Amino acid sequence: MTFPITRNRRLRRSTALRSMVRENRLHIEDLIYPIFVTHGHNVREEIPSMPSVYHLSMDQLKVEIEEVMALGIKSVLVFGVPNYKDAVGSSAYDDDEIVQQAIKAIKIWAPELVVVADTCLCQFTDHGHCGVVHLDQETQIATIDNDQSLQLLVKTAISQAKAGADIIAPSNMMDGFVAAIRQGLDEAGYEDIAIMSYSVKYASAFYGPFRDAAHSAPQFGDRKTYQMDPANALEALREADSDVAEGADFLMVKPALAYLDIVRTLKDQFDLPIVAYNVSAEYSMVKAASSNGWVDEKAIVLETLLSMKRAGASIIITYHAKDVAKWLKED
Ligand code: PBG
Repeated sequence: MTFPITRNRRLRRSTALRSMVRENRLHIEDLIYPIFVTHGHNVREEIPSMPSVYHLSMDQLKVEIEEVMALGIKSVLVFGVPNYKDAVGSSAYDDDEIVQQAIKAIKIWAPELVVVADTCLCQFTDHGHCGVVHLDQETQIATIDNDQSLQLLVKTAISQAKAGADIIAPSNMMDGFVAAIRQGLDEAGYEDIAIMSYSVKYASAFYGPFRDAAHSAPQFGDRKTYQMDPANALEALREADSDVAEGADFLMVKPALAYLDIVRTLKDQFDLPIVAYNVSAEYSMVKAASSNGWVDEKAIVLETLLSMKRAGASIIITYHAKDVAKWLKED
């Protein structure tokens, strides 16, 4: 028996043909590179669970930003390890703290680099939660005070905008956080600063290495009362719906790889740019496997990030960004 060859097979015949009919591509412009800033001098300390990702003091940050610019990366996401922590995360909205210092400096060194500020309290609270918590001594149940947390998050966003952030990325999952931050930014004169909402943020084990990096593991309880249940998809639509109504300019899905169905759903339902966060454990697992020679790092990373584009993401936040920039130049 003979069968006619299919159209697909005809279009796969050569490298040039495959390239011509390729539906999705990864571009350097799609990537946002996360950076961890810390106090001190000449600090370039590798995060043990995230090989090739460092805690950088300001002088080393300068070197990093020069490298990022030379590679053609267009945007960074700034995280900071502050000097002090307390119950209400004061160092998050301290105009002189590390995140604000870093944002200011980056905008001087590289004015055209798009600086995204992660707006959350978990790295700045001594208990490691994303807002103000009340702990019931008897049951040990931690309850988040939503509205009090919102006020502090608004202060944080304004302080970051004042430092020069181009985009505020609230990752705290409080109710009404987009509306509160939009209103706060507008009142403070930052109407033109965009909000990239971590709209759909699951309570995920994939943040494990990041919590080492940011020293932000909750000291008691967990984040399941404010982050989403991995079993839910309709809930993602409700979260995104409210963020859109409240004025979000971008919608983020986090983590990315285990939630590509959610990326696709949001892409089909909303007309805002969709951001996928290729989170820390997604990164560390690839690093671990490739350092053992079990997978081809370049191929695995490019395929994974491309799958995020195919799922509908226009932007990808990834710790692989510098490597990807080099690989894209090679090809
Ligand atoms: C802060 C924040 C977290 C991440 C980004 N912003 C940690 C968390 O929610 O626990 C995770 C990023 C990663 O794992 O790479 N709220």
